Amino acid sequence: MLEVEHLYTEYPNANGQIVKAVQDISFKVPQGVLFTLLGPSGCGKTTTLRSIAGLERPSSGEIRVGDTVLYSSLKNIFVPPNQRNFGMVFQSYAIWPHMSVFKNVAFPLEVGKKKWSKQDIDSKVMRVLDAVGLGQEAGRDSTKLSGGQQQRLALARALVMEPKLLLLDEPLSNLDAKLRERMRFELKSMQKEFGLTTIYVTHDQGEALAMSHEIAVIQSGKIAQIGSPRSIYESPENQFVANFVGLSNFIKAHVLGPVENDFYQVRTAIGDFEVSSIETLSGGDEVLLSIRPEDLQWLPESHSQKNMIQGTINFQLFLGDFLDYQIQVGDQEFLARVHPSTILAVGSQGKFGFEPNKCLALR
Ligand SMILES: Nc1ncnc2c1ncn2[C@@H]1O[C@H](COP(=O)(O)OP(=O)(O)OP(=O)(O)O)[C@@H](O)[C@H]1O
Ligand SMILES: [Mg+2]
Repeated sequence: MLEVEHLYTEYPNANGQIVKAVQDISFKVPQGVLFTLLGPSGCGKTTTLRSIAGLERPSSGEIRVGDTVLYSSLKNIFVPPNQRNFGMVFQSYAIWPHMSVFKNVAFPLEVGKKKWSKQDIDSKVMRVLDAVGLGQEAGRDSTKLSGGQQQRLALARALVMEPKLLLLDEPLSNLDAKLRERMRFELKSMQKEFGLTTIYVTHDQGEALAMSHEIAVIQSGKIAQIGSPRSIYESPENQFVANFVGLSNFIKAHVLGPVENDFYQVRTAIGDFEVSSIETLSGGDEVLLSIRPEDLQWLPESHSQKNMIQGTINFQLFLGDFLDYQIQVGDQEFLARVHPSTILAVGSQGKFGFEPNKCLALR
């Protein structure tokens, strides 16, 4: 449905230098899929989205929707934004303050190319207002809405046009934690119900994992990894992804040799372990091991297994659903996330084990 190929976008900054905001970004988004651009502040997410919308003219690359070329540096094509017919909700969303809630959503239909009867407009507007939970507020002055309601109104306005592509730039950023969770759920079900192909921008990894069919993790204008939420989380291909998407413990290691398919024996400063790798490794390779805190399991004192670490509990943090322990092993610190019923005293010794397939060797 959407194809972005070798996109580069540069900006001149105040000192006349060139900021390479987006460098060689390519991805494909099939029909009906929610595709997320995930990355830290300033990595180029908004720039990529604005380039798809046509609000930014890239320096090179190509953007296509189906068979239509929207932008191509080689063919010298640039379709202006108002002819792309995409729905958009921006980071700094703007509602029209002099209009009611209803009118804000009806307006794009009234002025659009396609002519709708008043009855059609009424039913379309109420359908999306109900979907975003603003049905009751239709008659209200839009400036009287809370920040979160305004954000939902901006979303309704984008949805009412039934766009072939929906571009959302941090659409839930102004909501409190509880409402954000509810809106994630609602957005996701609307996306499904309307079958909307959606490009979703966020810096929140939890949101990206919860909402997306596919995620592109972006680091300094480049794609660090593209994959399903599960593969991004469970098989990060580099340290940046392992660190940015969830928490991870990292240990430097030296490969001793293969054990069996995709499994290797490695040596670290705190012992030898059996680990897994998606890449083929050879004896002598230097790697970085990555273990998620929730994959470290607390072991009773008497227990022994092949992948084990033992150290002093430095401190603990109770977080309701789980308990985090910081464990000092030699000069290495580990974070273990365990069930809240686990009782280990700060200052005492703790033993933790992990499965070889939960410990990834990254090059
Ligand atoms: N109009 C502009 N002029 C100059 N530089 C810009 C402009 N817009 C963005 N940049 C720069 O391009 C880079 C990428 O910016 P972008 O807005 O795409 O980041 P982002 O990933 O959306 O970040 P955030 O999560 O903070 O919104 C940044 O270094 C930014 O300072
Ligand atoms: Mg942004």
